[in-house]
Amino acid sequence: MEPASHGLRESATFDRATIHAIQRAAETGIYDIRGWGAKRRLPHFDDLLLLGASMSRYPLEGYRERCDTDVVLGTRHAKHPLRLSTPVTIAGMSFGALSAQAKEALGRGASEAGTSTTTGDGGMTPEERGHSKHLVYQYLPSRYGMNPDDLRAADAIEVVLGQGAKPGGGGMLLGQKITERVAGMRTLPVGIDQRSACRHPDWTGPDDLAIKILELREITDWEKPIYVKVGATRTYYDVKLAVHAGADVVVVDGMQGGTAATQDVFIEHVGIPTLAALPQAVRALQELGVHREVQLIVSGGIRGGADMAKALALGADAVAIGTAALIALGDNHPKYDAEYRRLGSAAGYFDDYQDGRDPAGISTQDEELAARLDPVDAGRRLANFLRVMTMEAQTLARACGKAHLLHLEPEDLVALTIESAAMARVPLAGTNWIPGAGL
Ligand SMILES: Cc1cc2nc3c(=O)[nH]c(=O)nc-3n(C[C@H](O)[C@H](O)[C@H](O)COP(=O)(O)O)c2cc1C
Repeated sequence: MEPASHGLRESATFDRATIHAIQRAAETGIYDIRGWGAKRRLPHFDDLLLLGASMSRYPLEGYRERCDTDVVLGTRHAKHPLRLSTPVTIAGMSFGALSAQAKEALGRGASEAGTSTTTGDGGMTPEERGHSKHLVYQYLPSRYGMNPDDLRAADAIEVVLGQGAKPGGGGMLLGQKITERVAGMRTLPVGIDQRSACRHPDWTGPDDLAIKILELREITDWEKPIYVKVGATRTYYDVKLAVHAGADVVVVDGMQGGTAATQDVFIEHVGIPTLAALPQAVRALQELGVHREVQLIVSGGIRGGADMAKALALGADAVAIGTAALIALGDNHPKYDAEYRRLGSAAGYFDDYQDGRDPAGISTQDEELAARLDPVDAGRRLANFLRVMTMEAQTLARACGKAHLLHLEPEDLVALTIESAAMARVPLAGTNWIPGAGL
């Protein structure tokens, strides 16, 4: 707690943010809805460090020795797995939450960097299909915008069971974003707040997932990889169930994962951190003997090459980014600060996703605002960011003596805190102690 110079003492329990939340609730009578992921501090990749090579390990020379970055996703059953140049993909973000220009820019940026992008709740737009070399099509509980032609037009299918920001909950899209085009794709009335379903309408349990995956394979002639995405909660069991149901790729989205709009209480109090979920997922795959055969994508708070390198070292095959991709496109840029402040927010706070008045033209359906985003320029910025992420990860991997990013391993990591050591199952730095190991 900050010591106040005037002698007043802030309560750790009823701090100013808590008092403000109570006052806001008392005044409005409605709960707080916002975008972005958990804002509280959680154990994360910052709490891990990589051990570079020295005497007992042999580092690779940055400019002369290769460190490859390619990854293949969907090798288990699909006739056409996805071959990506870098193990960072763009996570599913809905057209509706994002403008058509933003979706196009994501496709352009991902394609330039040799990776995939993903549709989202509300279906596939021609802009994103046209500009995405590898497009993953989400099959969601809401079924908004779902149609078999788009399934066949995609390069992979992602069955969404949940998101890290709101496992157990459905999506939200406020009425101001439900324009005629968005409403038409979702068969909804224009201008009315929408909630997406929290579970698939035709399933009562994991057996139904197996049936659904088979159906999707038949519709797409066994060509496309089928991903299963879960929000991080009981990850060890969920990953095992997804593998049993026939998934080619499992996507685990941790609690820091972004969202377009959800209740704040949900974002901050449900799910487990990405760092805690990842080793559980890897253990589940290893116990089934399918680690690396069923690929693992991890998301939720991935911000750069260091996070990516650490996630890969813990056993992920790739990471996915949402929030970082939007920032790279130009969202929350300081040049829009005055406009964000007029919305009651500020650049860097991301409390404007749900409102649909994003001055950067990204999380909006307002035609004038959306026209501010040039998809070519924004796509180039995203491609630059993806390249930097990849080069950062390569730098770290070479320092650990690895000729491929996927050769990074848990043995390359130590933890800075007891919590992160216990969650990541790597030793506390300077010791050989892994709290809880053997349990
Ligand atoms: C604006 C926005 C829209 C999103 N829409 C969807 C969606 O339609 N379907 C979905 O599965 N996840 C959705 N997500 C979650 C992302 O797919 C991903 O799980 C999350 O953003 C990863 O965390 P990160 O933002 O910290 O990178 C959305 C996230 C954002 C920021």
